[in-house]
Amino acid sequence: MMYQFPDHFLWGASTSAFQVEGGYQEGGRGLATTDVQKIPEGRADTKVAADHYHHWREDVSLMAELGLKTYRMSFSWSRIMPDETLAPNPEGLAFYDQLIDALLENGIEPLVTLYHFECPQALVDAFGGWKSRKMIDAYTAYAKVCFSHFRGRVKKWVTVNEQLIAVAASNLNGNREKDPVKYMKDMYQMSYHISLAEHKAFSLLKKIDPEAMIGPVCAIQVVYPLTSKPEDVEAAWQAEELMEFYMLDMSVRGEYSPFITSYLKDHDYYPETDREDVSVLKDSSPDFIGINYYFSICAKQKSGPINYNQPPFWVSDLYDICDNPYLQKTEWMSMGVDSKGLRTGMEKVYQRYQLPMIITENGMAVSETPDESGKIDDHYRIDYLHAHLEQIYRMLQEGIHIMGYCPWSFVDVLSSHQGFSKRYGLVYVDRTETDPKQCSRIRKNSFYWYQNVIRCNGIE
Ligand code: BG6
Repeated sequence: MMYQFPDHFLWGASTSAFQVEGGYQEGGRGLATTDVQKIPEGRADTKVAADHYHHWREDVSLMAELGLKTYRMSFSWSRIMPDETLAPNPEGLAFYDQLIDALLENGIEPLVTLYHFECPQALVDAFGGWKSRKMIDAYTAYAKVCFSHFRGRVKKWVTVNEQLIAVAASNLNGNREKDPVKYMKDMYQMSYHISLAEHKAFSLLKKIDPEAMIGPVCAIQVVYPLTSKPEDVEAAWQAEELMEFYMLDMSVRGEYSPFITSYLKDHDYYPETDREDVSVLKDSSPDFIGINYYFSICAKQKSGPINYNQPPFWVSDLYDICDNPYLQKTEWMSMGVDSKGLRTGMEKVYQRYQLPMIITENGMAVSETPDESGKIDDHYRIDYLHAHLEQIYRMLQEGIHIMGYCPWSFVDVLSSHQGFSKRYGLVYVDRTETDPKQCSRIRKNSFYWYQNVIRCNGIE
């Protein structure tokens, strides 16, 4: 039996600039925050990554062979604007000109993220990056260059990838604050600045290219209560509000919910604001929401003191994040695999905002090497993607507006913080943590499987 997807469904695949490109000091590119982060000995870094900077022609051919309708990528801000003068770098723009044109020639629509975890390190050195309101102007200047230069060629833009991680991860955003309480406060201030920057970009795009679409990408947090104890249920919904909906509310509605407003005030996290911000936040809204989903999580009633020794977005006096005993875990998917969670999360987003959605990331990480015959039989990845596509099909059947699906990742890329052994790609990249070799490309079995899905426009 075939589950047929709608005509014009955007079958895609994803990468991001610092994880795929390499060429970190080529073509006039400035250093990015992600280039200067401290990497443990023996782990791959951004210098070569998947060497897409030198393999982009081959990569576009592979995308065409796969049958992609869209390619979800990001621009490296520091390739386009290397430093704090904010002067555009013609060589950087020329690199993306070639790539975008090659995609379009192959009938592949680019879906471009402006900010995927990295910015020029010069902006952090000059004024602290997102901690400062100056970053809003820098981002708006960058967005203006991109929207104008690629007008008519890039018709779908993402403002910011996963604001949750972008503000929490110091290795990505360059926030070196040591005091954990101040760090939390910074996080909300940075988040507020990002929301303002996003809204400025929404308005700007409508002026520069009214036909184009724009939206945020959200790391949806599907948080189950550990038990039916009311305190666990309360912990779970509060975790979803604090890890997902407060940012989406700001992107879509331009305001915090009453729960978040009082939470931020009670904790002395409420950001500094200016009077004119209200109109910036209220006068624009996104056209769609991008959804990143890998796994669900579980929460229970808070007990004991606040634990700062965990990812900042899990730090809370309202909930404890805990293991879900019902899910199967793997080496890299330590929270478990849960395809139903995708639907649970997306249904909530749709009910709350009624905006079209596109899955911009979804995938399974495994450490892989080719077998003796040189093949990669990633049947586990095929199972993972298939199970998630079944959930998408169910939502489409209900009439939920889902524009497309972009598994993470097109080729193996550098993990956001765990090197190159953590592989998600449909295409294998032949390198180790410490030896980039030639970064040759090998199609995995999931490549052929996905090619058939696209060809049939559906799954069995
Ligand atoms: C998302 C990011 O959070 O998850 C990607 O948008 C990232 O950049 C992906 O690579 C997988 O996470 P990780 O940490 O395994 O690379």
